[in-house]
Amino acid sequence: MQNDVRTIGFIGAGNMPQSIIGGMIKGGFPAQSVLVSNPSRPKLDLLSEKYGLRTSQNNHEVANAADVIVLSVKPQLMREVCEDLKENVSNLADKLIVTIAAGLRFESYYDFLGDDIRIIRVMPNTPSLVGEGVSGLVADDKVTAAEKEFVQQVFDYVGITLWLEDEDAIDVLGAVAGSGPAYFFEFMHGLQRAAEEFGVSPEQARAMVQQTALGAAKMACESELSLVDLRKQVTSKGGSTAKGIEAYQQGELNEVSKKAVAAAVARNREMAKLF
Ligand SMILES: NC(=O)c1ccc[n+]([C@@H]2O[C@H](COP(=O)([O-])OP(=O)(O)OC[C@H]3O[C@@H](n4cnc5c(N)ncnc54)[C@H](OP(=O)(O)O)[C@@H]3O)[C@@H](O)[C@H]2O)c1
Repeated sequence: MQNDVRTIGFIGAGNMPQSIIGGMIKGGFPAQSVLVSNPSRPKLDLLSEKYGLRTSQNNHEVANAADVIVLSVKPQLMREVCEDLKENVSNLADKLIVTIAAGLRFESYYDFLGDDIRIIRVMPNTPSLVGEGVSGLVADDKVTAAEKEFVQQVFDYVGITLWLEDEDAIDVLGAVAGSGPAYFFEFMHGLQRAAEEFGVSPEQARAMVQQTALGAAKMACESELSLVDLRKQVTSKGGSTAKGIEAYQQGELNEVSKKAVAAAVARNREMAKLF
């Protein structure tokens, strides 16, 4: 892959690649350097109308024209899609492979595409849709520093990027950041229901919960203080927050978080063996 020419080709035009592409174009990545393939036309038409991207219903066409191939199909389709690329793309080893599929490990891609590929696994999460994502990245040993930098820039368009130690850490990131939005929604819904039970209207209950979550997240992002110190800052001794926190501690909220992450990590590892 040449440093100055980086055409990026997405194989699959589902929700996640659409979010990434939207962020890239908004952030100034040149639309003429993005290609997308998908079996059916509607998503491709939307992307070409919205951003002027080159699109194709043929994966080979996109993979052949790209320097960086982003595999964005469901894990269960990955073997079929990769084996087809292996047969029909002549110089795969000269390109960089990026995969955003959950679960599948490097070993599977070497098996599907050949041992000589260079590959980066990226695990983005759904808040990428609003430019506030977390993407965990792990590269195999053959990937160059310039390639890593390029891929990091792509995912920086939709949030923050974290280079992880190894593939095991990707499972943990998936369980915390990938599943995390669902945990927060569940917790927020519990608070909303509690407010409603005390007579607040559903609209106002939701507004107070969502804005509090946003404000707390912003404070956590912007403050130098630890999360424990931030919590202490809003908890005066003997006050109402102290009573509320006491109830959470009795309910062993931290233990529940640990159990939730452990269950999701275990499931990620189980699912990796399915494909
Ligand atoms: N969504 C997330 O939050 C998230 C987070 C992290 C990772 N991921 C990973 O991202 C990948 C894509 O997820 P998604 O949410 O974008 O899925 P999605 O919205 O269900 O989209 C899947 C896309 O793949 C297309 N497709 C089907 N067969 C294909 C083929 N043979 N060649 C090329 N494209 C094909 C489908 O096209 P048709 O519509 O024409 O069938 C569809 O547009 C998955 O591997 C997932 O694990 C997703």
